[in-house]
Amino acid sequence: MAELKRVAVLISGRGSNLGALIAAARQPGYPAELALVLSNRADAAGLERAREAGIATAVVESRPFGRDRAGFEAAMQAKLDEAGIGLIALAGFMRVLTEGFVTRWAGRMLNIHPSILPAFPGLDTHARALAAGVRLHGCTVHFVTPGVDEGPVIAQAAVSVLPEDDEDALAARVLAQEHRIYPAALAWVASGAARLVDGRVVLKTTPAEGAFVNPLPAFAGLPRETA
Ligand code: GAR
Repeated sequence: MAELKRVAVLISGRGSNLGALIAAARQPGYPAELALVLSNRADAAGLERAREAGIATAVVESRPFGRDRAGFEAAMQAKLDEAGIGLIALAGFMRVLTEGFVTRWAGRMLNIHPSILPAFPGLDTHARALAAGVRLHGCTVHFVTPGVDEGPVIAQAAVSVLPEDDEDALAARVLAQEHRIYPAALAWVASGAARLVDGRVVLKTTPAEGAFVNPLPAFAGLPRETA
């Protein structure tokens, strides 16, 4: 089996999380190599980021496969095999994967989702968080299991929902946290510091109190995010 350190990032769009992973992987000592960026859309802006960073890219258009999800995944799998990939990071990859593909990659495929799961799986998470009136919202990196936006949690970060927030303002603060936790979670998995044991993620070291909360200044009126 290919080693966990050879990572493929799967994207469908702008690729800002990909950008955060590229920046992290450039740091000396980062335990993973981004060996491939694969998109299901030829027009995904993230592909350009990958090319600029000198990372190999592949496109497997999902549209021509229609409902043949297994056929689409077989074409993706061929690209992953060719590149000797051991670990997949889904980063805004907007296709639902079959149970067969997910099982094949069990414990070796991560996803980032813009909510504190299990709250708000699916789409439009920021609008739904605002509509629900929650005080905390955020993001989750998790191992992928067959259910959509489900699976053992590796890392989460929270932001306060502020009274003046609209969807865009809230999304921007959550995205800043996504860019913080995804590189960390990928490093933990690639280095073996986070492992799946009996369906839960075990961390080698105990994170400091507050490690997953956006740092807040001392309370003075409403808390503000500082990220
Ligand atoms: C990110 O906010 C990511 O959490 C979300 O798509 C966006 C992709 O942005 N993923 C999901 O909603 C998965 N269910 P990016 O292309 O700039 O990284």
